[in-house]
Amino acid sequence: MTAAQRRLVQRARRARLRALASYSHFLVGAALETERGRIYTGCNIENASYGLSVCAERVAIFKALSEGERKFKRLAVVADTDRLTPPCGACRQIIWEFCGNTEIVLANLKGKSSVARMRTLLPKPFDASLL
Ligand code: THU
Repeated sequence: MTAAQRRLVQRARRARLRALASYSHFLVGAALETERGRIYTGCNIENASYGLSVCAERVAIFKALSEGERKFKRLAVVADTDRLTPPCGACRQIIWEFCGNTEIVLANLKGKSSVARMRTLLPKPFDASLL
């Protein structure tokens, strides 16, 4: 991992500790780096009406978008799993829409990590180019 990737993972790791995951007990942290180098973090936020829960990735993206950010460089996702936790299907669609073929850094708490491009996580995206 590069220094920038490590820094982003570190921020996602810290954000994970703020997860509101009383139902699944599955804590996830995300950190999104803008083109200009600002970082927005997110954690998963669950609800007693389970389906209303929001993933860490979407929280980070919506925070950044609502602050006026539009261009993103990479997204880090951290969970405490041996097999690295990738974004869910709904998040992949949102990431593609707003971050495009961005770099995705996955990491766990034991120091395992991987780097991939969104295109490989979502090979045949549905997007505005088809409308
Ligand atoms: N979750 C995320 O926040 N991001 C992921 O990449 C996978 C799943 C959350 C949703 C839910 O709160 C919990 O993890 C279990 O699915």
